[in-house]
Amino acid sequence: MYQSLLTQLENGILTITINRPDKLNALNKTVMSELNEAVDEIYNNDNIRSAVITGAGNKAFVAGADISEFSGLSAEEGMALSEKGQILFFKIEDCPKPIIAAVNGFALGGGCELAMSCHFRIASENANFGQPEVNLGLIPGYGGTQRLTQLIGKGRAIEMLITANMIDAHTALQYGLVNYVVPADELLNKTVSVLTLANSKAPKAVAGCIKAANAVFDESMDGFETEVKEFGRCFNTHDMKEGIAAFKEKRKANFTGS
Ligand code: COA
Repeated sequence: MYQSLLTQLENGILTITINRPDKLNALNKTVMSELNEAVDEIYNNDNIRSAVITGAGNKAFVAGADISEFSGLSAEEGMALSEKGQILFFKIEDCPKPIIAAVNGFALGGGCELAMSCHFRIASENANFGQPEVNLGLIPGYGGTQRLTQLIGKGRAIEMLITANMIDAHTALQYGLVNYVVPADELLNKTVSVLTLANSKAPKAVAGCIKAANAVFDESMDGFETEVKEFGRCFNTHDMKEGIAAFKEKRKANFTGS
C-alpha cells in the first residue's frame, strides 16, 4: 500500500496515479520513493507487461518537484537530490517494459522530466508542459536539460528552459514531445489501447526495441551494435519461432514471453 500513489493492475497494464491533487501531485520525497518501489514492481512482477504513469485530479499530471523541500539545502545536498532523481528516471527510461506518461494537465519541472523519462507521452487537451526552474533561480535536475533537448531539439529546448514559458498540448504535439492529444476523458482509454497493442507482441522483442532505441542517446553504447545483439538474441527465443510459424500458418501468434 502506498501513501501517495494509487496503483491498479488490469490486463497486464499497471496504472500508477500520483495522488497528491491538493499539491498538484508535486514530487516530494514520499512520492519519489514510492515511485521507485512501483517501478521496481514493473521490472519484477511477471504479471505486469507495461505501465501508465498519470496524475490524480483533472488539473495536473505533476507540477514539479516539491518546492517546499528545497529551502535550506546546500550545494552538495542539491547535487545528491538531483542524482537520486536522475537514477529513478533512468530506471524508468531503461525499463524493458513500456511505460507511457498519460499527461492529464500541468507537467512542469520534475513533472515534465518524469513524463520525458517515460518511453513516450500521450496528452489530454488541457495539458501544459514547461521547465519553469529559472523562475526559482534553478535549473532542471532530473534530466530535463538533456531529455528536452533530445526530444524537441536544442533551439526549442533552450528557449523553454531560459524563458520558463509553458507550451500547450498542441504545441507539444507539433514539437514531437507527445504522440497524441486527446480529450481529457479519453486519455486513459487511448493510453491503454496503445499499450494493449504492444502487450500483444513478443515481450523480449519489445524490450529489445526499447533498449536499442535508448542506445541512441547513451554514449557508453553503440546503438547499431546494440541492435545487432538484440536482433541476434531474438533468434534464441521461443516467441520468434512462434511468430514465424504463425505468419506461415496465417494465424495470430500466441506469444508467451519465452
Ligand atoms: N511544489 C510544491 N507545491 C506545489 C507545487 C510544487 N512544485 N506546485 C503547486 N503546488 C501547490 C501550491 O503551493 C498550492 O498549495 P497550497 O494550496 O497549499 O497553497 C497547490 O499546489 C495548488 O497550486 P496553486 O499554485 O494554488 O495553483 P494555481 O492554479 O494557481 O497555479 C501552477 C498552478 C502550476 C501554475 C502553480 O502551482 C505553479 O507555478 N507551481 C510551481 C511550478 C514549478 O515551478 N515547478 C517546478 C518546480 S522545480
